[in-house]
Amino acid sequence: MVKDEVLRALENSRGLRISGGRLAQELGVSRAAVWKAIESLRAEGMQIASTPGGGYCLPASDDSLTAPGVSALLHTHCFGHDLIVLPETDSTNTAIKQHYAATKGEGFTFIAERQTAGRGRLGRCFHSSSGLGLYTSVLLRPKMPLEHLNFLTIAAAVAVCQTIETCCGLCPQIKWVNDVLLDGRKICGILTEASIEGETGCIDYAIVGIGVNFRLDRESLPSDVQAVAGALADFTDELPRRAVLAAELLNQLETLYDHLCAGRTDEVLTPYRKRLSYLDQPIRVLAPAGAYDAICRGVNDAGNLLVERPDGTRETLQSGEISTRPLV
Ligand code: BTN
Repeated sequence: MVKDEVLRALENSRGLRISGGRLAQELGVSRAAVWKAIESLRAEGMQIASTPGGGYCLPASDDSLTAPGVSALLHTHCFGHDLIVLPETDSTNTAIKQHYAATKGEGFTFIAERQTAGRGRLGRCFHSSSGLGLYTSVLLRPKMPLEHLNFLTIAAAVAVCQTIETCCGLCPQIKWVNDVLLDGRKICGILTEASIEGETGCIDYAIVGIGVNFRLDRESLPSDVQAVAGALADFTDELPRRAVLAAELLNQLETLYDHLCAGRTDEVLTPYRKRLSYLDQPIRVLAPAGAYDAICRGVNDAGNLLVERPDGTRETLQSGEISTRPLV
């Protein structure tokens, strides 16, 4: 489509002016077609500045989050090709479950600028204010055994880390199983949910939901969240545009997901282990049967956490109802 090509050309020269004539020539279309494409992109929310003399320019500092703006930066074969970006929803996971899971295919992606009822693990809420973060969910139809479902969370955590490394030059760590940390502060949460077919016990669909904090409005957070939460802005003065981070996240996630679907779990576990926080350090295990202290001994080939109790006995923790925190 001319529209996509015009946007890619402008995106490749973000911050610079390109004349309508040059765009038309490079893309082999008429100037009228370029003009029509620009108008259509503007109608979809893209901020495209007109410059004197008839050129167009994507402002370097523009942080708007739009479907065409994210699409133009994708290198995926599937993820994000069907993409909805909305200013607000209750929860991107809930929205997919309620409105899209029955009709949309693998890789369908839903991004919201704000969630009014963002959800976290263990029934917690995830604070998701407007313009302060990236809140996205991807619909998957994995043909994998049910017990491999936690690998989706593991892949998502690695994808977030790789994305932040690429886009911000920072080095996040992962607190098993789904928290991405910078300097011990949680800057991202991941919620994987699945629907299982009753008769076969196979996965019908899974939704991987990812929330990355760009900035935090600390006063609006409850004190327990304030104590652990962080944001990218706490660690860098050069925040990436949210569209850049969103597209890179989908690029990274798709590659890791492809490995999982091909049975190459090592390609996901190795980078996960490399970034595992609190390895060989004391942690507190919060399990439904009670809390206890242990040493974190790594992650096994099934993605479960290995811990060692003070008496030397080892336990293997499955993510379900369990969480951990560092012992200070
Ligand atoms: C957690 O920290 O326990 C998980 C938080 C997951 C938050 C993301 S934001 C996008 C998606 N939609 C939700 O309602 N939750 C996930």
